[in-house]
Amino acid sequence: MDALIDRFHRRIEYVRVSVTDRCDLRCTYCLPKGFKEFDEPEGWLTFDEIERILRVFVRLGVHRVRITGGEPLVRRNVVDLVSRLAGLGIPDLSLSTNGVRLARLARPLRAAGVSRLNVSLDSLRPDRFSEITGGGRLRKVCDGLMAAKSAGFSPIKINTVAMRGVNDDEFEDLIEFCIVHGFMWRLIETMPIGSTGRAAQKQYLDLQSVRLRLAERYDLVPVVVPGGGPARYLRVSGTDLVIGFITPISQHFCETCNRVRLAADGTLYLCLGQEHSVDLRALLRADASDEALAETIVAAVGLKPERHEFHEFPQKIMRLMARTGG
Ligand code: GTP
Ligand code: 5AD
Ligand code: SF4
Repeated sequence: MDALIDRFHRRIEYVRVSVTDRCDLRCTYCLPKGFKEFDEPEGWLTFDEIERILRVFVRLGVHRVRITGGEPLVRRNVVDLVSRLAGLGIPDLSLSTNGVRLARLARPLRAAGVSRLNVSLDSLRPDRFSEITGGGRLRKVCDGLMAAKSAGFSPIKINTVAMRGVNDDEFEDLIEFCIVHGFMWRLIETMPIGSTGRAAQKQYLDLQSVRLRLAERYDLVPVVVPGGGPARYLRVSGTDLVIGFITPISQHFCETCNRVRLAADGTLYLCLGQEHSVDLRALLRADASDEALAETIVAAVGLKPERHEFHEFPQKIMRLMARTGG
């Protein structure tokens, strides 16, 4: 069966699964300082429930799954969940992390079946890193990245949120770092979402201007990278480095959107930048059959909106980024 095509003829083949809304960092653009009002763990889907929902998605044609958070590696026994999802035969099983706990978990995650890893890194300066992340230690993330490399992950993508006046003097350093270590580098436009949205808007940096700036120093050649995500890629001639630009604001990619998001509490969100959603947990806990679950998912995809409205003022989406893991 392969029924997940929405009203705008987009095929849904990619599910982002948030396994917790909690995080061990407090990045300024994601979680408010001192934030504590996370969901109660009792409300989270169990591993049995996540596996069951994904089995239905796989039957409906999904072949890419990304595990996200909050920070997914703070969920207890997350490696067991990875093994169970790998057992469903998902060809592209990936994970996005802040890297803090990666030094210990890189090898087990790889052994359990994660094939691709994306790691956030907004600065290579310890003080600045700490400021952006609300006290995070850069050393830990660097150790995590090295552990990921030696565990054999390839590619490893570094995600940098571009922030005017915060880290925009470091892009060339990040490029050199990625060349030396063989990482892919992606720059992301800050999205105005959650209660941090207003502050994030002030730091917004249009990546079209960054691309022009980098093109003065590097020879950038467009390339296609398999993976199904929203980034547009360029190779730096004379190196192995590939740079991805994720530009939800300056050049949105909604017409090629292929994904939906399952929050830790079982809410299925149809778009990162809209509120359309369906509660799958209620259905599961009312003993719905797999058929009923599949029908609900097909109907939910029918609700998927055409695009986000991040450009609108006042800002529309007040749920936190950590709820859907980006
Ligand atoms: P790949 O499969 O490796 O291409 O991953 P990805 O880029 O889809 O995932 P990742 O978790 O690394 O996300 C990188 C950035 O892209 C984050 O800031 C996400 O919020 C953003 N992003 C991912 N999917 C979407 C989307 O559908 N819409 C928007 N607006 N942003 C997205
Ligand atoms: N805008 C853009 N990207 C964000 N991320 C978290 N919050 C935002 C935001 N407001 C990114 C993280 C991580 C990815 C999963 O989402 O930095 O790399
Ligand atoms: Fe945590 Fe990731 Fe949000 Fe930063 S961006 S606070 S690392 S969930």
